[in-house]
Amino acid sequence: MLKIGIIGAGRMGNAHAGNLVNLADVKLSTVYDIDPEKSKAFAEKYPGIQILSSAEEVCSSPETDLIVITSPTYCHKEGLLSAMATGKPIFCEKPLCRTRKELEELAPMIRSYKNLFAIGFVRRYSAGAMQLRKMINEGKIGKLICSSVSCLFGGYSRLWGDWFTDYEKSGGVMLDMLAHHCDLQNMIFGKPEKIYAQAFRLPKNDELPKDYVSTTITYSDGCICNMECSWLRGGPSETSMVVYGEKGALKYTDADGVIFYNIGGEATKIDVDEGILGPLQENISGGMYATEIAYIVDCVKNPALKPYAGAEEAIAAMELCLGMMKSAETGEVVKF
Ligand SMILES: NC(=O)c1ccc[n+]([C@@H]2O[C@H](COP(=O)([O-])OP(=O)(O)OC[C@H]3O[C@@H](n4cnc5c(N)ncnc54)[C@H](O)[C@@H]3O)[C@@H](O)[C@H]2O)c1
Repeated sequence: MLKIGIIGAGRMGNAHAGNLVNLADVKLSTVYDIDPEKSKAFAEKYPGIQILSSAEEVCSSPETDLIVITSPTYCHKEGLLSAMATGKPIFCEKPLCRTRKELEELAPMIRSYKNLFAIGFVRRYSAGAMQLRKMINEGKIGKLICSSVSCLFGGYSRLWGDWFTDYEKSGGVMLDMLAHHCDLQNMIFGKPEKIYAQAFRLPKNDELPKDYVSTTITYSDGCICNMECSWLRGGPSETSMVVYGEKGALKYTDADGVIFYNIGGEATKIDVDEGILGPLQENISGGMYATEIAYIVDCVKNPALKPYAGAEEAIAAMELCLGMMKSAETGEVVKF
């Protein structure tokens, strides 16, 4: 029986717990939330779970085998330090942390961590994104030229006082939302060379919180990646990614999966290859979040398996997000 300890019983703590309880030989065992009401509600939902009074207690408890960190981004470091002190397997929600100082402290620690360290880049567990990667690697669109990512949210309803609306705590759309897509662009294009960004960064004197970024990354082989992302109150909510090569283009959306466009512009919907997600647990339903946490559990049970996103992916995405944020803050192009 694999016993799970959860730090942060909010939205993602509940999302992962809801998927974990569907897995065989897994038990939700310990929880800590800074808000006792959240811990209490969690324990009512998942009877038998022990409420503990700190992240350290969850991590060091003999009732915790796998530590799941789902506290707010600016609290990840605190959870990670407690977790790494135990040597137990760790799954931490993305992004790794909030600031460069935190990244500099954490990067060498997670790189040399002897047990499992997995970061919550859930799109690595999406069949569509992995199909796109496979087709690019097989040369379907030839030499890569550029990409376009649109990650728009027109239904933003959070208010001032929420940690998500505090740029110093969440990093706004550049860190909170685009961490996933920064990871995917790194996966496709490799090492970034420079970045330029313009962003609102949740201006505090606005009546209602809003954020938007438009950013351009140049990768080391000259590929240009353009991304826009929003938290706005109006307009569409849609996410898409198009990667262009010399022999065609591939588009990936959550709704339509992967579409191939030949150089004449003709579109063909691509069927996802069976087994594209590799040695994941069979019969997992519930989408990429369910697949992700099931695979992390498999990695703990079978150390020969490696997470699809670990220390290097966590650090590389942080570098790109922090570069983007620095550019938006200073108005300068940031070189890597
Ligand atoms: N992978 C994804 O797609 C995805 C989606 C949403 C959020 N996230 C990430 O997950 C993390 C949590 O986001 P959320 O939406 O669940 O936020 P949330 O605000 O819903 O939940 C966070 C919980 O942590 C608690 N908390 C605050 N400080 C704490 C501390 N020091 N120790 C323990 N608990 C503490 C809060 O009381 C709250 O219950 C963030 O880093 C966020 O970026 C990832």
